[in-house]
Amino acid sequence: MKNLSAIILAAGKGTRMKSATPKVLHRVSGLPMLAYPVRVLKGLKAEKVVVVVGHGAETVRSAFDASGVNFVLQKDQLGTGHAVMCAMKGLKGFKGDVLILSGDVPLITGETVKGLLKLHRGGGGKRPVLSLITMLLDDPKGYGRIVRDEHGSVVRIVEEKDCSAPQKGINEVNSGLYLADADFLRENILKLGNRNAQGEYYLPDLVELAVTAGQKVKALTHMHPNEVMGINNRVELAKANRLMRLRKAEELMYSGVTVLDPETAYIDSTVKIGTDTTIYPGVHITGDTVIGSGCVVEEGSRITGSVIGDSTTVKSHSIIEDSHLGKEVVVGPFARLRPGNSISDRVRIGNFVEIKKTSIGKGSKANHLSYIGDSVIGADVNIGAGTITCNYDGYKKHTTVIEDGAFIGSDTQLVAPVTVGKGAYVGSGTTVTRDVPAGSLVVTRAGEKVVAGWALRKRKKK
Ligand code: UD1
Ligand code: CA
Repeated sequence: MKNLSAIILAAGKGTRMKSATPKVLHRVSGLPMLAYPVRVLKGLKAEKVVVVVGHGAETVRSAFDASGVNFVLQKDQLGTGHAVMCAMKGLKGFKGDVLILSGDVPLITGETVKGLLKLHRGGGGKRPVLSLITMLLDDPKGYGRIVRDEHGSVVRIVEEKDCSAPQKGINEVNSGLYLADADFLRENILKLGNRNAQGEYYLPDLVELAVTAGQKVKALTHMHPNEVMGINNRVELAKANRLMRLRKAEELMYSGVTVLDPETAYIDSTVKIGTDTTIYPGVHITGDTVIGSGCVVEEGSRITGSVIGDSTTVKSHSIIEDSHLGKEVVVGPFARLRPGNSISDRVRIGNFVEIKKTSIGKGSKANHLSYIGDSVIGADVNIGAGTITCNYDGYKKHTTVIEDGAFIGSDTQLVAPVTVGKGAYVGSGTTVTRDVPAGSLVVTRAGEKVVAGWALRKRKKK
């Protein structure tokens, strides 16, 4: 958008979070909360985005290195007004409107910002130098209160700590979202004082400065205060996560995904899911996971950083990390796919099967109680119950290769490096230590002895 730049305030310590992590890096629905205003501004194509960093500046900077924003350092956190003073260094020569947002308001939407832009730029009469969003709260505690004159115009914002007793009763508060004319900001930001309860340069004091100078200030009351809610502590963080979770579930449901219980479907904002997929209660789907159409993810499952093809079923209590699964695969219940697997179409991975860094060809099965690591498995292979790839010799990891159509009997140990050839057969209970040629049988078994009547005799003795 032309003539629009933005400042995101993100230098504060976030004392109330009681955390070693800078507040704006705490996660909401899988992303650091600062990512949300950044995303909104990208959507609006703001010319320049300046992020004011201070507390934990390096950590914040490196987390957002690739995001295309500019950083300005606020060495000492002397207040929101001071933060904007610093930010103006990053907007030298810019003419137009400057949007000011907080890094701790993750639920903000593009619609809200557009509403503010419309109010600020539209309408007749004198153009405002400053516009802001307010909200009405049952419990306004902690927020700056909006003071209006007898005509209903905003004249001042008073921070909670500076409020008189009657002012504390005002339930219209400042959301911390502003739009200001760049020249107005440059001229007035240096006029802010810090004679107040916190000894800080308050950005909201710009309202009074503008009004006393006879300039126009406009305010828009937001009907959904949750959207502009600031996160100051972990209770609010949990609230924001819940709202974002419901927002994500709603977005998915409108796009054709069945979410049986939106309250307990923990699906990160980064996840993509196809139509006619059903998500059961109590699942966690995180990171850049992509799930196809017609899939089922049953309760208690956790899927992260994975790509899952159409019509695949993940049964209860399965874990899938950084893996690729094809179409019509069935996983679980109680399966564990550790990172680095590539599972082809129609594969079956049953209960208590652990798989790591393994590729499995089409239609193969490992239905029960197995450990398969560092393996290359062909198509139509059957892996019997209790099969173990012994991939680690105490020093190094080795590869197990099982070629197409091979049959691995139950309770087999495959001591890697080892290859079982195409169509070969491994008898139950075998420890395979050497390569098995294609089409052959391997079996290591002590001769079976049947002693007739032995059990009967033993019982009689007692
Ligand atoms: C601020 C507003 C208050 C408003 C509320 C809405 C002020 C003085 N008060 O209060 O009127 O109701 O937001 O959520 O502005 N920051 C800096 N540098 C600083 C101080 C803060 O970058 O020196 C950043 C913080 O990292 C944060 C944002 O500014 O992202 C807001 O600061 P915070 O301390 O959370 O202000 P509030 O007390 O919530
Ligand atoms: Ca805040």
